[in-house]
Amino acid sequence: MVTIVERRMIVPNVHLLTVAAPEVAESARPGNFIILRPDEQGERIPLTIADWDTAAGTVSSIFVQVGASTAKLARLKAGDTIPSYAGPLGNETEIANFGTVLLIGGCYGLGSLYPIARALTAAGNKVYAMIEARSSYLLYWQERLAAVVERLIVVTRDGSRGYKGHVTRLSEILALEKISPDRVIAHGCTFQMMTVAKETKPLGIKTIVSMNPIMIDGTGMCGVCRLTVAGQTKFACVDGPEFDGHEVDWEEFFARREGYSAEENEPLHRSGCASHF
Ligand SMILES: Cc1cc2nc3c(=O)[nH]c(=O)nc-3n(C[C@H](O)[C@H](O)[C@H](O)COP(=O)(O)OP(=O)(O)OC[C@H]3O[C@@H](n4cnc5c(N)ncnc54)[C@H](O)[C@@H]3O)c2cc1C
Ligand code: FES
Repeated sequence: MVTIVERRMIVPNVHLLTVAAPEVAESARPGNFIILRPDEQGERIPLTIADWDTAAGTVSSIFVQVGASTAKLARLKAGDTIPSYAGPLGNETEIANFGTVLLIGGCYGLGSLYPIARALTAAGNKVYAMIEARSSYLLYWQERLAAVVERLIVVTRDGSRGYKGHVTRLSEILALEKISPDRVIAHGCTFQMMTVAKETKPLGIKTIVSMNPIMIDGTGMCGVCRLTVAGQTKFACVDGPEFDGHEVDWEEFFARREGYSAEENEPLHRSGCASHF
């Protein structure tokens, strides 16, 4: 059981969750995730670690309210307890001096990329971050990210800030910004990560994506998180969550993740949380 230090909506539908979990904070690394249950009857959901403070013994994640479990989590407040909170899980992001690294994030990825940006910059890379949202009011942690990267590039679909459009403009934006990345790392919305991988493949840029399938145990026991990478079956929880985006079977991934949509929606309507959407 852990106690919530802070749970706050930082932009519409996106929440910061900070809990007191000194043992997790002690061993957290960029790219790791935790699995929590929002209440005793709740399902286990994975969230990436977006920051930690070993002195304070706290761990933070950013979550997007999408269904029943995240809606329950969004109703908790400082001082409330979470019955189970396990981590850090998964492999950490590979941190080395790659040269120039472009981080691309949308939805919760703006948060989960932060420790990766910090570590890659400390390892001597020239790090750029490209953050994308539907509109400028949905962007968050811009100052935090800007403080640990060379340059922050903003893309909004409505053009309210930065480049107008989507990551489909990637090669054009790279040319305008005069950036030639040796590696791209994308976190957040699955569709966006797939789009990034499609855009970088013809450019020959190694692209790492953080896969977010349904998970249960998070320790390689249940097989629920399996996906196909380079023709081989992998478990996202123990073999990932980061993989080469050019080798992921995206079609199969989307099909597997949608497999329980009807069952996932049922508790949402029963709980009355659906009115939040
Ligand atoms: C390793 C890992 C790390 C993750 N890190 C984060 C994080 O830091 N922050 C965060 O907000 N989420 C993260 N996720 C996704 C998060 O676990 C799910 O959004 C959550 O389980 C949804 O639970 P729910 O009951 O609220 O919604 P559900 O009822 O399970 O889903 C509601 C709707 O959202 C869709 N959905 C479910 N999962 C995802 C997903 N991963 N991406 C997009 N749509 C989805 C479903 O298809 C459904 O339509 C991560 C997932 C994994 C595997
Ligand atoms: S979540 Fe069970 S094997 Fe990965």
